[in-house]
Amino acid sequence: MEIVIESNSERAGVLAARLIARLVREKPDAVLGLATGSTPLGVYRELVRMHREEHLDFSRVTTFNLDEYVGLSGAHPASYRRFMEENLFSQINVAPQNVFIPDGMASDVPGFCREYEDRIRAHGGIDVQLLGIGGDGHIGFNEPSSSLASRTRIKTLTPKTRQDNARFFASPEEVPHHVITMGVGTILDARQVVLLALGAGKARAVREAVEGPVTAMVPASVLQMHPSVKVLLDSQAASELERSDYYRWVYENKPDWQRF
Ligand code: F6R
Repeated sequence: MEIVIESNSERAGVLAARLIARLVREKPDAVLGLATGSTPLGVYRELVRMHREEHLDFSRVTTFNLDEYVGLSGAHPASYRRFMEENLFSQINVAPQNVFIPDGMASDVPGFCREYEDRIRAHGGIDVQLLGIGGDGHIGFNEPSSSLASRTRIKTLTPKTRQDNARFFASPEEVPHHVITMGVGTILDARQVVLLALGAGKARAVREAVEGPVTAMVPASVLQMHPSVKVLLDSQAASELERSDYYRWVYENKPDWQRF
């Protein structure tokens, strides 16, 4: 794992965007795994800026989103499809047929989940997966106790995650109980993972994921087993790390050819 601590959330988001942009420039038909929520907003703002001002071209890029609420159509204001349209897709030149997001209205959920996995494979797999982290250590919506080998499937949200996400809904009762999410195993198949965590509310989950044991009780901890993970943090999200001085020292002393 490579841990990078930036002074503020904006700089951490820009760094994540730069990693994604570099990949898209090197591989114009890259397959991106994308996340929703508050964390990636700065990443998407920067990608939109690069598209407008630096001609970053998404015309051959394919995207797969991590998750979607069961029971919400793409038109619902809190759906993740709507989130992606508003914050990224409508502002860049990605082709609509290259955008994949789990279908919260699928009538055959297990069948849909199998097809989603097949589709990722048919596109050659995900080149870079962008992740946030839940306050309970979830990635995607793989809540604590999720199988570390899980694939795309339906999951039940914990009361804490429903509460955390209530801010996107008109009232807390409206937060769906179920989601379709890529599994932990699906995420681990990505060739590169970029986990972004911002704010003090993530500090404990970050410490447990980075410095704690690998355990299904903190699904993000399994990223310790992935060969190419960058954990990008602002100083608040890094505030509970025991070895933050070492991570900073490593980053400052990287060989030039490894910089990003
Ligand atoms: C979103 C997702 C979730 C979020 C996590 C953090 O697609 O998969 O794992 O990344 O819940 O959410 P925020 O960024 O809103 O704190």
